Amino acid sequence: MKGIILAGGSGTRLYPLTRVTSKQLLPVYDKPMIYYPLSVLMLGGIKDILLISTPQDLPNFQSLLGDGSWLGINIAYAAQPRPEGIAQAFVIGRSFIGCDRVCLILGDNLFYGHNLPGILNSAFNSPAGGVVFGYRVIEPRRYGVVGFDSEGRVIDIEEKPAHPKSSFAVAGLYVYSSKVVDIAGRLSPSARGELEITDVNLAYLKANDLKVELLGRGFAWLDMGTHESMQQAASYVQTIQKRQGFKIACIEEIAYRLGYISSRELKALASDMQNNDYGAYLNEVSTFRRSELDL
Ligand code: G1P
Repeated sequence: MKGIILAGGSGTRLYPLTRVTSKQLLPVYDKPMIYYPLSVLMLGGIKDILLISTPQDLPNFQSLLGDGSWLGINIAYAAQPRPEGIAQAFVIGRSFIGCDRVCLILGDNLFYGHNLPGILNSAFNSPAGGVVFGYRVIEPRRYGVVGFDSEGRVIDIEEKPAHPKSSFAVAGLYVYSSKVVDIAGRLSPSARGELEITDVNLAYLKANDLKVELLGRGFAWLDMGTHESMQQAASYVQTIQKRQGFKIACIEEIAYRLGYISSRELKALASDMQNNDYGAYLNEVSTFRRSELDL
């Protein structure tokens, strides 16, 4: 299983914040935004990850995350020179994907909830060529929207419809067979000039090879693409963390929990953050048994 994080885009919706840096490097409470999607791929057990961003932002991602070995994973990098659509990730990632299944996550999406590893693993092991996730939202017209027939079967997915057929948006987390590379390669740009992920999903749907898993109301899917939604995500993270004393999307902790790094290595990662809460947290969890962190 391969993982791709798409962290490109011009970020104009967040100007002036993103005039000189990438949206996905901005803080969401106590960590850079990119930690959230990266944590999801890690919780799914994915160790080979391709991070795609703009040529100007890639060096900053590389200085933040390196080759991933400090987390016991492999991170490779590739450029998307212009924001030409989510599906372009598979064209750019063709040789990285090879003959494997691939999980793509958008760099500004936050997923948090009980049994996330289980949800991911059943998608990874699904017989369906494509698995996407539907989530009820108040404003479906901002997203790809799932249409159902009277028996609840998926019959349609529409990108940003003026008249949404349901309240279920397609979240920015997609699992596909290696065929996705050819499907994406055959797409033509939409009216907004992008290779649309919705067209990839429609290709799988037409071939009767798409599963839409609904994420329940106890699950959090947030996007962080506007000033307001970034602020809401930060408050959500702060609230849960403050209540439980466990951090959301702490990639160093996850690496320890999964047995990729030792408690000594985790402590070492805390050494240049001794004066803050993040470093104190890494020190604290390094004393926990791995099983205690799963609760
Ligand atoms: C994109 C996809 C859309 C999906 C959404 C999830 O929207 O095109 O189908 O529901 O991500 O975040 P965009 O980021 O282009 O607005």
